[in-house]
Amino acid sequence: MDNFQLRDGALHAEDVPLAAIADAVGTPVYVYSTATLARHVAVFREALAGIDNPLIAFAVKANPNGAVLATLARAGLGADVVSGGELARALHAGVRPQDIVFSGVGKTAEEMAQALDAGIGQFNVESEPELDMLSAVATARGVTAPVAIRVNPDVLAGTHSKISTGGADNKFGIPYDRALDAFAHVAALPGLEVRGVAVHIGSQLTDLGPLEAAFGRVGALIAELRAAGHTITTADLGGGLGVPYDPAKPAPPSPAAYGAMVRRATAGWDARLIFEPGRLIVANAGVLVSRVIRVKQGANAPFVIVDAAMNDLLRPSLYDAYHAIEAVAPTGQRETVNVVGPVCETGDTFATGRTMDHVAAGDLVAFRTAGAYAASMSSTYNSRALTPEVLVSGDRFAVVRERPSIRSMVEADVLPDWLA
Ligand code: LLP
Repeated sequence: MDNFQLRDGALHAEDVPLAAIADAVGTPVYVYSTATLARHVAVFREALAGIDNPLIAFAVKANPNGAVLATLARAGLGADVVSGGELARALHAGVRPQDIVFSGVGKTAEEMAQALDAGIGQFNVESEPELDMLSAVATARGVTAPVAIRVNPDVLAGTHSKISTGGADNKFGIPYDRALDAFAHVAALPGLEVRGVAVHIGSQLTDLGPLEAAFGRVGALIAELRAAGHTITTADLGGGLGVPYDPAKPAPPSPAAYGAMVRRATAGWDARLIFEPGRLIVANAGVLVSRVIRVKQGANAPFVIVDAAMNDLLRPSLYDAYHAIEAVAPTGQRETVNVVGPVCETGDTFATGRTMDHVAAGDLVAFRTAGAYAASMSSTYNSRALTPEVLVSGDRFAVVRERPSIRSMVEADVLPDWLA
């Protein structure tokens, strides 16, 4: 359930017609719903009922917009960050430093220093050399870094290969079999306080089985670590729960089913649980509104050419991802079309052989489930300006990221003196 619904024959974001936003801001434009964000936070919290004081650290990479982050921070969420940029955005949005965890295989010494100075809650360390670097950076600053070790449980997540992270050949985490040695290594290093274990096996998971298997391995490891004398106070279970994209497909497991599985899998762990949901919180809280530039007859089906492209919404090109596409003012007259963008690549295709309501040049369409990994993965390919973002709350809306001017894009490049 989300807050993008038809009213009087026109798609609205909460109480605002999408057409009004498109007219005021131009297209393409990302539109987010505050009410849907709040609802997803509430649903996830509710799903974790009975778990003592969980930390819900929103995976900032899914949607780093400052207004979205501020909305989530005010709802009490922490943040899972993977770069100095994400850390700065989370802090700026008002996320409490102690509620921030720092993930990622390639943290630099500068990023570590930035996070130590901010006083973040936990570094999820992914390799032995990273432990050495963090120890050196913390020692040089005279502080102690709170550390969890991310283990690679060697579990197949059953999702798209490009977003699976828990297999032995993926770059993430320390191999499960080396985990005990890694913890012994930490204990011998100055400047580190080891406190937990972290795991994240992939994204858009549609089956709880692999997650439960991974959590089972984490539970066994926690017991072994404690037996070896380590103090384990946190267990970070990552993100990954999938969301519905294609209404014709069975829905992924509900947050409630996920919560029940977590309670079962973590019973008796006696550790503070950390969660890093990204997609679940934001995906269906956003749409991408685009205008049809023209319709061109193809050899087989018409090409509906819209003013959004793969640079704005990369997921279909990169992962063959499905996004529902709806006419903002549906006519009820159905037809089968290909929906494409203006970029000069065949991969700039949003849908092939899609049956949807008839649209003509000038009409608006909405790409659904575009709140996660959408604006955050956009680029300026083909020298197209980044798409602006709008946040709706009830009958109000605000531009929360402006569309850059073409002039600012052109002037960002600097000529060397021999060309000036
Ligand atoms: N924690 C860690 C360590 C992660 O790497 C990720 C996502 C998350 C949490 C959040 O996962 P979520 O709850 O959103 O599934 N660009 C891809 C998704 C990449 C996910 C990367 N890591 C897509 O558009 O499908």
